[in-house]
This record gives sequence, C-alpha cells and structure tokens, in this order.
Amino acid sequence: MSAATARLRVGIAGLGRLGKRHAEALAFGTRHVELVAACSPVEAERDFARDSLGVERLYADFDVFIADPDMDAVVLVTPTSLHADQAIAALRAGKHVFIEKPLALNMADCERVLAVAAERLDQVAMVGFVRRFDPSYVSAQASVAGGEIGRPFLVRSQTCDRNDPDGFFVRFAPSSGGIFMDCSVHDIDLARWLLGRPKALRAFATGTIALHPGLADCGDVDNGLAIVEFEGGARAVFYASRTMAHGHETSTEVIGTAGKLLVGEHAARDRIVRSDAHGVRHAVLADFHERFQAAFGAEMAAFVAACRGDAPLTLTLTDAAEATRIGLAITRSLHSGMPEVV
Ligand code: NAI
Repeated sequence: MSAATARLRVGIAGLGRLGKRHAEALAFGTRHVELVAACSPVEAERDFARDSLGVERLYADFDVFIADPDMDAVVLVTPTSLHADQAIAALRAGKHVFIEKPLALNMADCERVLAVAAERLDQVAMVGFVRRFDPSYVSAQASVAGGEIGRPFLVRSQTCDRNDPDGFFVRFAPSSGGIFMDCSVHDIDLARWLLGRPKALRAFATGTIALHPGLADCGDVDNGLAIVEFEGGARAVFYASRTMAHGHETSTEVIGTAGKLLVGEHAARDRIVRSDAHGVRHAVLADFHERFQAAFGAEMAAFVAACRGDAPLTLTLTDAAEATRIGLAITRSLHSGMPEVV
C-alpha cells in the first residue's frame, strides 16, 4: 500500500461455501478495503465475482493470481489441503495473507509456513479462528484472564452442526482432515486461549457414525468426542457433531476455582421465547455463519487493521500450529483407539 490512508487492495482465492461470504463482505462491508481480484478454478464462481461483486481481475490459476502486482493482501478460503502451499506462495509474492482455519493438516506444512513468515515479519499472516472475534467469547476471555473465575482448569466446548441430508461434508471430508481438524479445531484454539496457552500433553478420542456411512471410507465420524490433558492439570473436553436435528449449536463452558462461564448455550436465534400449548421454545440458529456473522466481520477488520499497521494481531501462527498439533493427536487417537501423545 502506498500510504496509510490508501485502501488495502485484496484478492480472494476460493469462492465456495465460505469464500462467497468473505468475498461479499470484502466487496461491500469491510472498511479500508478494495476487493480487486478473485481466483477460482470454477467458471461459475468467477462469474459470481464479476457479476455480483464487480471484481474485474479474475483468475482460474492460483499461480497467475498470486503474481498480480496490484494486490497488497490475499484471503485464502480454499480447501484446507491447499492452505500451506498457497500461504507460502502469497508470502513469497510479498502479500499479506489471511488463511482460513485450520492452517494445515500436518505439522511439516505448519512449520514450512511459520519459517517463511518468520523471514517476512513486515507481512501479516493470520489464521481465521473466528470465535476469537465473537463479542461473547472476547468478553468471556477477558473475564477469565482478569481472574473472575479464579484459576481456570476445565474447558468443555462443542461445535454441533445441523444435519445436512445432502452430506456436503462427506464429499468435503477427504480434504478437511476429518471432524476434529475441521470442527473441533475452533474449540481447541478456544481452550488454549481461555486456559492461558498451556502445553498439551495427551489426547484421547472416540466417535461414531450416526447418519452418514460414507464417512467410513476416509476413517471419519459424524459425531466425535475428545479429551485433552494439559501441563499443570488443566483439561479440555470437546464434542463435535454433524447431525443435530434442531440447528447449529456452538457452546463453551470454562470452569475455574471461583466460578464458571458458559458461552452460547441453547443456540437461540433471537431473544424471543414462545410459550403456548406445545410448550416453551425459541427458534434456533441455522448454521455457523448465522451464529458468527458479526465475528466474521470483526475478524476481517482485525486482519485489515494489522495489514495497515493500525493494530497488532494477538492471534499468532504459532497458536494455529498448536491447534493443528492437538487436532492431529486427537485424530490419531480416534483411529488407534488409544491415548496419543500430543
Ligand atoms: P468449498 O469446497 O465450498 O470451497 C472451496 C473453494 O476453493 C471453491 O470455491 C473452489 O473452487 C476453490 N478452489 C479449489 N481449488 C482451488 C485452487 N487451487 N485455487 C483457488 N481456489 C480453489 O469449501 P468451504 O466450506 O468454503 O471451506 C473452505 C475453507 O474454509 C476450508 O479450509 C474450511 O476449513 C474453512 N472454513 C472455515 C469456517 C469457519 O468457521 N471459519 C467455516 C467453513 C469453512
């Protein structure tokens, strides 16, 4: 960027389920940003960027996209298996880079990205752990860090999606790393954040297939449970589900020696409680995007602020690599049936 007041020229790669949402926000809803380029191998997705977002520079090939000289930053919303190579290419091309979670599906890839980022400290590299930007989680973390619940020693956190009868995630499973790397990685990052970044020692996991037998082909489950032990005695329990009947339900409980906090219980869509002859109830959130829409905006604003030099990031690549390390140990345990060293 030529001046601190200039708009950050952003390109986006990946215009799928989440990429479209990020692209719309970058085109119409993010301050100090101009969405100048988009990349997808799918023609219909490039058409969407041109027709709905007014993006003129469209690329089918990532290598050509990343060489675009009139782009300050890139946002990667591509399949997880591509994140590491694309992030490295972006950094080497001199761009700031936002990488959707998880950073990568193995530690070697995480370390390759960290090594290149370490050589380029003037460039921002951020992984999209969106819950760190949700107002309720921000407030809960500040309370815990301020000592409100004494010494936090246990986190129970879940990511539960409404069942998708079309089974999008069954097709997605080979590149997602499985339910723990795809869903619980958010809870893993939250647990580390809320517990003060303790070192993870050991993990145990189990799971079951309730509705989607196709997942067995890649060793995945549609409902998974995990326990992680941390140095110093803290523990975390994670639950992830793809098969909720009612809606999306992300919630996190953090328990300390002087109290506990609970974020996000009941998946309520609004503040209306309906009482009638059928009982007392409220409408539920449809999906992660409805739950975290504001957080996605705050997350991108934080990335842009860091790129402009307005505010530093507190979420580091090392945090993202640690989340992958723990997610991998959990996934190994799911497959081995035994506790695994993290
Ligand atoms: P998706 O499969 O719907 O979209 C992937 C996109 O990448 C498609 O537009 C596809 O055409 C494009 N693509 C494939 N190969 C490419 C290449 N070589 N270069 C450029 N584009 C390429 O997947 P979805 O659900 O949008 O997920 C994308 C990423 O976002 C994943 O890493 C996932 O973990 C993450 N994600 C994060 C969420 C969050 O809560 N923060 C929620 C959902 C997804």
